[in-house]
Amino acid sequence: MKTTISVIKADVGSIAGHAKTHVALLNKCDEILAKAKEEELLVDYHITNCGDDIDLIMTHRNGTENEEVHGLAWNAFIEATKVAKSLKLYGAGQDLLSDTFSGNIKGMGPGCAEMEFKERPSDPVIVFCCDKTEPGAFNMPIFKMFADPFNTAGLVIDPSLHGGYDFEIFDVIEHKKVTMSCPDEMYDALALLGSTGRYVIKHVTRRSDNEIAASISTERLNLMAGQYIGKDDPVAIVRSQSGFPAAGEVVEPFAFPHLVSGWMRGSHNGPLMPVAQRNATPVRFDGPPRVIALGFQINNSELVGPLDMFDDPAFDRSRALASEVAEYMRRHGPFEPHRLPADEMEYTSLPGVLKMLEGRMKDMD
Ligand code: 13P
Ligand code: 13P
Ligand code: MG
Ligand code: MG
Ligand code: MG
Repeated sequence: MKTTISVIKADVGSIAGHAKTHVALLNKCDEILAKAKEEELLVDYHITNCGDDIDLIMTHRNGTENEEVHGLAWNAFIEATKVAKSLKLYGAGQDLLSDTFSGNIKGMGPGCAEMEFKERPSDPVIVFCCDKTEPGAFNMPIFKMFADPFNTAGLVIDPSLHGGYDFEIFDVIEHKKVTMSCPDEMYDALALLGSTGRYVIKHVTRRSDNEIAASISTERLNLMAGQYIGKDDPVAIVRSQSGFPAAGEVVEPFAFPHLVSGWMRGSHNGPLMPVAQRNATPVRFDGPPRVIALGFQINNSELVGPLDMFDDPAFDRSRALASEVAEYMRRHGPFEPHRLPADEMEYTSLPGVLKMLEGRMKDMD
C-alpha cells in the first residue's frame, strides 16, 4: 500500500494588503478537510499558511493528480474565497483563475506538489512553503540538498546516497522537460538551473532505484493568467534520512538567505528569509520573501508532527543576514538589480512611458 502526500496552496485573501491570511479562511478550509477525512478521502491533513498563502498538506491513498483530492482543495479555496469576500479581505480569490473545476487543479491558479511512495519503517518528510517568491527560488536549495557535497555530507560518506540523484527540470516558458543526473551532469544541469525564471526543478529521484525524493510546485501564475495576479509562492515536499539527505542536510541550504525574485509587487530581488511559521508575515516592503519548513513523520499515511524546523536559534544569524541584505537591496530603490529587469517584472509602466515619449525620442547622431 502506498501513501500520497499532496500539498496544494493558494492565496485567496489577506490582511493587511498581502501580509497574512485570515484565521477565518483557515477555519473554513479545516471544516472542509475534516469532512473529507471523515469520509475517508483523506487519511490526514495539516493546514498552515506562509504569509497570505494557505497551504493544504494532505495525505491519502489515491495517488497523485487525483481528481477528487484536487477537487477537494479547489472547493476549500472557493469556500474560503466566499469568507474572504464577506470580510472584504485584500485580493479575495486572487489565485483562482477559473470559476469551475475541470478535473485537475494544475493550470487553474493554485500551486501543487505531490508524491506517492511506499512507506519505509520510518519516513521523515519536510514540507517547505514560501511567500513572495517564485518556483525557481527552490532551484539552489534543492540542488544543494541532493548534489552539493559541501551541504550534504551523506553524498560523500553514506553509500546509500553516493550514487547521486536525477533532477527532472521543467522549462516553464517552452513547456518542455528534461531529466539530468548528478553528479555526472552537474555542470550542464547548473547551466539551466541558474536561470531561475525559466528552468525549475519539478522532481528529484534517487538514481539507484528511481525512488521519489522531492517534489516542487512549478506553476507560474502570470504565465497562466497572461497578466500579473501575484507571485506563485511555491511549496516543496522533501523526504529525508535513510537513503535521502538527513533532515539537517535538507534544511541546511536555507541557512544562506539567497536572492530570489518576488518581494514587492513580484518585481524585486530580495533574500529568502527562513522563519518560524508564526513569523511568516512578510510586512517590510511586502517582504522580504519568506520560507517555512514543517517536519513530519509519516505513519501509515498519518502526519505525525509537525516540528516547525526554522524555529531554531541556529537560524538567527541567517535571519540577521537576510535583514542586512534586505536593507542593502532596498537602498537601490527603483534600480536593478533590486528591481527586476523589465522583461521579468510583473508590473511595468515602461510601455506607457515610452509611448508618451514617442514624439520626443530622437535618433542619435
Ligand atoms: P543521533 O545520534 O542524535 O541519532 O544522530 C544521528 C545522525 O546521524 C544525525 O545526523
Ligand atoms: P502575493 O503573490 O503574495 O499576493 O504578493 C503580491 C504582491 O504584489 C506583493 O507586493
Ligand atoms: Mg496576495
Ligand atoms: Mg503570497
Ligand atoms: Mg502569490
